[in-house]
Amino acid sequence: MPNHPTLDARVQWRIDHGTIDQREPGYRRTAEAILDAGLATEVRRLISAGKEADVYLCAYNGAPLAVKAYRLYRTSHRGGRPIKADTMSWLAAHEFEMMRQAWKGGASVPTPARRVENLLSMRYLGGPDQPAPRLQDVRLEAPSAFLHAVVTGVHALASAGIVHSDLSAFNILVHEGRPYFIDFSDAIRVDRTGGVPWLRLTQARDALVHGFEALGNYFGRYGLAIDAETHADRIIASRDRFGVLSDRTRRPS
Ligand SMILES: Nc1ncnc2c1ncn2[C@@H]1O[C@H](COP(=O)(O)OP(=O)(O)O)[C@@H](O)[C@H]1O
Ligand SMILES: [Mg+2]
Repeated sequence: MPNHPTLDARVQWRIDHGTIDQREPGYRRTAEAILDAGLATEVRRLISAGKEADVYLCAYNGAPLAVKAYRLYRTSHRGGRPIKADTMSWLAAHEFEMMRQAWKGGASVPTPARRVENLLSMRYLGGPDQPAPRLQDVRLEAPSAFLHAVVTGVHALASAGIVHSDLSAFNILVHEGRPYFIDFSDAIRVDRTGGVPWLRLTQARDALVHGFEALGNYFGRYGLAIDAETHADRIIASRDRFGVLSDRTRRPS
């Protein structure tokens, strides 16, 4: 994350003109920001208040939409006010990009719609009364088939070039019997070779092992186990075009 970033032009403008308020935006203020940004025509209610972002159920001309709003202030991020405002925009932009990439590649994520500053809108998963539950809160009828769908889903994400760095039963929603992956703010792209493919693939592998272990904890309640290392290795090997990790990921034959 850039700590001396080129500020998002709109954020910079608002800092220069003093229209960014120092106070925590709060519900009303965030709702106004969502409407002002043109992301929705109606803000219905708060679905989730997280550590650094809130998720709202909104509607655009009557059609439901989820909007994730990264909080500009009172977050665990360090840094001065302008940097903080921009950091949150950066996170929203990064999450949006990762979701778009995953969605374009056919992975199971809520369709991303738009991103404006610290706000991003996407398809709302759930019914009129409540949002789709997190896997963590669901009692599965066919756990083994669902585990298969989750593992297939993680592979599909990687095929789309994305490794989710915070995989767990908290970041998977169960909608119409299928797993949907959400929360891509820390996701890693594994499809391009940037300057340091080895570093990126190493990070991605660690994240995957961690994620599969977290999922293993959840599926343990059904007596199912996940071999985290093997799954992670398989995924990374499929992304490691130049064999930079081959000594670690290939098993001796
Ligand atoms: N597209 C969506 N449709 C319905 N609910 C959603 C959607 N995206 C997020 N949520 C709800 O908001 C919660 C938090 O979203 P998440 O992206 O995981 O943010 P956080 O960074 O706070 O963990 C989810 O657990 C889910 O309940
Ligand atoms: Mg989350």
